Amino acid sequence: MKVFKDLKQWQEFREQLSHQQSVGFVPTMGALHDGHASLIKKSVTENDVTILSIFVNPTQFDESSDFENYPSTLNEDLRLAEQNQVDYVLLPTFEDIYPDNYRYQIHENELSQILCGKSRKGHFNGVLTVVLKLLNLAQATRAYFGEKDYQQYLLIKDMCRSFFIKTEIVAAPIIRESSGLALSSRNKRLTEPEKLNASEFFATLKKKNCDDSSVQQQLEQLGFEIDYIETHNNRRFGAIRIGEVRLIDNVQL
Ligand code: PAF
Repeated sequence: MKVFKDLKQWQEFREQLSHQQSVGFVPTMGALHDGHASLIKKSVTENDVTILSIFVNPTQFDESSDFENYPSTLNEDLRLAEQNQVDYVLLPTFEDIYPDNYRYQIHENELSQILCGKSRKGHFNGVLTVVLKLLNLAQATRAYFGEKDYQQYLLIKDMCRSFFIKTEIVAAPIIRESSGLALSSRNKRLTEPEKLNASEFFATLKKKNCDDSSVQQQLEQLGFEIDYIETHNNRRFGAIRIGEVRLIDNVQL
């Protein structure tokens, strides 16, 4: 596995890679878990070569405390990448990714304004902008995104269609703990009792015989602070807060 800290070196190296090979790309913000491992495994199975990027993107955080407390586990991440047969890892810096200091941004007007976009102002501007940059750097055949961030996946897919980006956007199913809790880097910040309680989030969200407001009430009774519970196209989306930690999940009803 080759690690690139210098983006210029990566770009030169990328030019040399054979254009006959299929390339899979897994963009991440690090703090890797089994959910990321499943994306990597899918990419390794479906492509000749797999690239992983680790970049905690400040422009997609609407709260500076969330950015500052975002878990960082680089050594473990590199081990997980190597064990799962990643070929190349990109570790860019803010200056590498934003030579424009974020003067240029991708802004979407509809889907990015609801659900997470409503309460996290500018979040999807940051996500779409960084993903466009990363896709241009990776020049991949396929890029892999987890369905836990389903709204993100839809927006990225739509952005690629809109800007004629050739990379195919592939979704992979949510990986859950045996309790049902969706794996997330933010789970690392939950205490054990909070984690136990958090498993009720999915159990309640997936109840088919309840409408959104009843799900919301049940979650409130369990002590969660609710950002939203909304169903769109038969998929129920939820965002809640447990203490300092914001969790999201979704389920096809
Ligand atoms: O899903 C994530 O980890 C991030 O939003 C992504 C796609 C890597 C962009 O920073």
